[in-house]
Amino acid sequence: MATREYVYCDYAAGAPCRPEVAAEWAAYAAHEFANPGAHHPLAYLARRRLMEAHERAANVLAVDPREIVFTSGGTESDLLALRGVMKATGQGRNELVVSGIEHHAVLLEAQRLEAEGAVVHYAPVSRDGVVDVQALRHMVGPRTALVSVMYANNETGVIQPVKQIAEIAHAAGARFHCDAVQAFGKVELKPREIGCDLMSLASAKFGGPKGMGLLYNQMNSRIVPVIVGGPQEWGLRAGTEDLPGMAAMAKAMEVAESERAGAWPNVARVRDALEQRLVAGLGENVRLNGNKAPRLPNISNISFLHIEGQAMAIELGEQGFCVGLGSACAPGETDPSHVLAAMGLSWEDAIGCIRVSFGPEITKQQGERLADLCIANYRNLRGLG
Ligand SMILES: Cc1ncc(COP(=O)(O)O)c(C=O)c1O
Repeated sequence: MATREYVYCDYAAGAPCRPEVAAEWAAYAAHEFANPGAHHPLAYLARRRLMEAHERAANVLAVDPREIVFTSGGTESDLLALRGVMKATGQGRNELVVSGIEHHAVLLEAQRLEAEGAVVHYAPVSRDGVVDVQALRHMVGPRTALVSVMYANNETGVIQPVKQIAEIAHAAGARFHCDAVQAFGKVELKPREIGCDLMSLASAKFGGPKGMGLLYNQMNSRIVPVIVGGPQEWGLRAGTEDLPGMAAMAKAMEVAESERAGAWPNVARVRDALEQRLVAGLGENVRLNGNKAPRLPNISNISFLHIEGQAMAIELGEQGFCVGLGSACAPGETDPSHVLAAMGLSWEDAIGCIRVSFGPEITKQQGERLADLCIANYRNLRGLG
């Protein structure tokens, strides 16, 4: 089957690279090969291009170019934010607050910092997957260095009250980091308006190249680098710069932002219609996780009771629909997701879960077909005839 014969419903795991972005990448790869740190005319040109990439990314986010640190993706940005802040603050502030539904890039780094002596608090979430702000408030105090809560969850799409959480962090003199990897390009995202001191983005989620990301690091926010060596990226991320990757990511940001308002309302309609059709067809045998909370327009987290989500996803794949499991970042994992567990789902509800995440090209007919296939597969998998 050729790629185009599949209906791709796994945007939260990775969006296709936009053609104009691939073209920008190729042009830079062919022509901007000089090392921006060298001292000759082509290096000076490369340095100018490097500054341009920072300026373009900064313009989209309405921040200063010196606040942009390009990285290898969301994982590295999260790592740099957490470790960078926790190692920069003194013994007086050694506490970190994260939510229990953060991506593993945040949670596992929090655990590592804990093993190194930091005190980590894990804020609970409601049944709908929204961070419990009151509980979080009690965890933040004069010893808190950093609060890290994602803008929108990668498994459910549920949007978090990040502005309120940023205010709580700041009132205690702590910094606020937001993993906005899933949210960028789908909602308006200006770090200064939210009150972020740090914000992570990953280019692969909105039509940029894989293996590129950035950390917004507010100018007064002192962090220490994780990758040390040369002075690149304001001394915060050593190593010869990936200029094609940076330019391509900046391009993807510009295009995603310019198309944002028009691209998603229809996707939300298709997603909502899919969910309604599933409930109409399967009643109590299907649960929609997080659907009562504000969500990103394209994600649906669906539990089919008494079957395994993986079996459903395999069937759908053979029928031409690519959907995700709980989280694509845990390949082969059969334990239910930590996000659904934090939301209080039973093992059975969580193991029967798939994640559908549409892209802008999804049609009403494709959404309906997907729902009908899910219903038919469910009946087959349960032997209901
Ligand atoms: C919310 C969130 N944070 C971080 C990451 C990690 O990003 P990357 O794969 O670019 O390292 C992901 C990836 O899916 C994500 O969804």
